[in-house]
Amino acid sequence: MKIISLNNLSKKYPIYGKPSDKLKELLTLKRRAYHEEFWALRDVSIAIDSGSTVGIIGQNGSGKSTLLQLIAGILQPNGGELIVNGRVSALLELGAGFNPEFSGRENVFMNGAILGLTHRQMAARFDAIADFAEIGSFMAQPVKTYSSGMFMRLAFSVAIHVDPDILLVDEALAVGDLIFQHRCLHKINQLRDQGKTILFVTHDMSAVAKFCNRALLLDGGRLLEDGPPELVVQKYYAIVYARERQYKQIHTGSLAPCESVESSGPTEAISPIRTVPNVDHRFGNEEAVILGVELFGPYGEPAREVTAQQEGTLRISTLCRKPLSNPIVGFTLRDRLGIQVSASNTSYEGQALPAAEAGDIVTVDFQVTFPDMVPGSYSISPAIANGAPLDHEMCDWIDNALVFQLRNPNLVYGMLRLPIRTRFAIMRASAAVP
Ligand SMILES: Nc1ncnc2c1ncn2[C@@H]1O[C@H](COP(=O)(O)OP(=O)(O)OP(=O)(O)O)[C@@H](O)[C@H]1O
Ligand SMILES: [Mg+2]
Repeated sequence: MKIISLNNLSKKYPIYGKPSDKLKELLTLKRRAYHEEFWALRDVSIAIDSGSTVGIIGQNGSGKSTLLQLIAGILQPNGGELIVNGRVSALLELGAGFNPEFSGRENVFMNGAILGLTHRQMAARFDAIADFAEIGSFMAQPVKTYSSGMFMRLAFSVAIHVDPDILLVDEALAVGDLIFQHRCLHKINQLRDQGKTILFVTHDMSAVAKFCNRALLLDGGRLLEDGPPELVVQKYYAIVYARERQYKQIHTGSLAPCESVESSGPTEAISPIRTVPNVDHRFGNEEAVILGVELFGPYGEPAREVTAQQEGTLRISTLCRKPLSNPIVGFTLRDRLGIQVSASNTSYEGQALPAAEAGDIVTVDFQVTFPDMVPGSYSISPAIANGAPLDHEMCDWIDNALVFQLRNPNLVYGMLRLPIRTRFAIMRASAAVP
């Protein structure tokens, strides 16, 4: 059953150039407009199954809170259709639904009334609410005297104790202390297991991957991506990465123009990496050294988590200290037990590198489709050598310079799943010639 359906849902706000414009508009009885329209949400269509846990992510101002407020019925849309089949309990940005002048206790009962529960029903829940919120004697104090953490604890406690079919949570978890965050996530887990529908807005990507079975990415008020959390999170990182690059470009003027992030692999010119995340052991004659190593996900975003059968790029940058006649750049891939899973280098891949001078920075991209291996942690050991594939001098080798997680939704027996196709034939006994 679709518990929430949005069809081309849109919300706009009037934007006034200066406060007096609003007054001017009122004076003309709104016959003349002194504002521009700003679409906080534009043509968003989503159908949500009952029992799903949906993470909503996106940059600041992308429309996440607006979306939740529409679903909660706090805002009215300017276009499109919204159908909600169930009782909604919302924990929205601080302030919504609570009156600061009233005590915590009074607010609990008022909130219950708004959600359609009787005084008696709320009274039966009151102790559990107070117990979960753990704000003690402050329950009798006006809410305006609460810290933002206390306020949120009470709001969260009410939201989960009113038997909602749908729970909307906007960012709120970040405000509580760590113990309370654990308690909230545990409670959200329980509600999920009870088959409640949960939508939560967060900037915590690991929470999305951990708790959600679906994620939505909003950008500039539009739905940019809708699908499995790991893919949507990667797309989000790609946007953030592109924005950081643009920022750096404006502030240093040193980077190549940032192109679209749609295609696979890092999209810009091959710019050197200057960070080595880890050095377990290093050896070589130092005629050239590894300058940096980075792994990029399918949208060109730096990634420490990749998915089997998806594309990615391993980038290795090296600095030549002496002239190298035949540089070879390569890497070894190991599993968490240190067993070599694979290795490759420019020569093996048929990508001969030209001779390099002292001071040259040589950067190589290895574009790869991650194999269907057992999920877990793997390491990359990059290297640069000079000479022929079977007869070379090692210039620099770094053990386990970069560690990443491989996800694999498929079941894998042994170390990897072979790319197999099957076919069969049956010679039926009944059809056999005697
Ligand atoms: N009352 C309002 N009047 C005018 N513009 C508004 C109003 N409320 C929100 N907006 C604008 O709508 C856009 C979406 O806002 P929204 O609060 O939904 O973003 P968000 O994704 O929740 O961001 P954040 O991550 O910062 O919480 C923003 O550009 C915001 O400035
Ligand atoms: Mg918000």
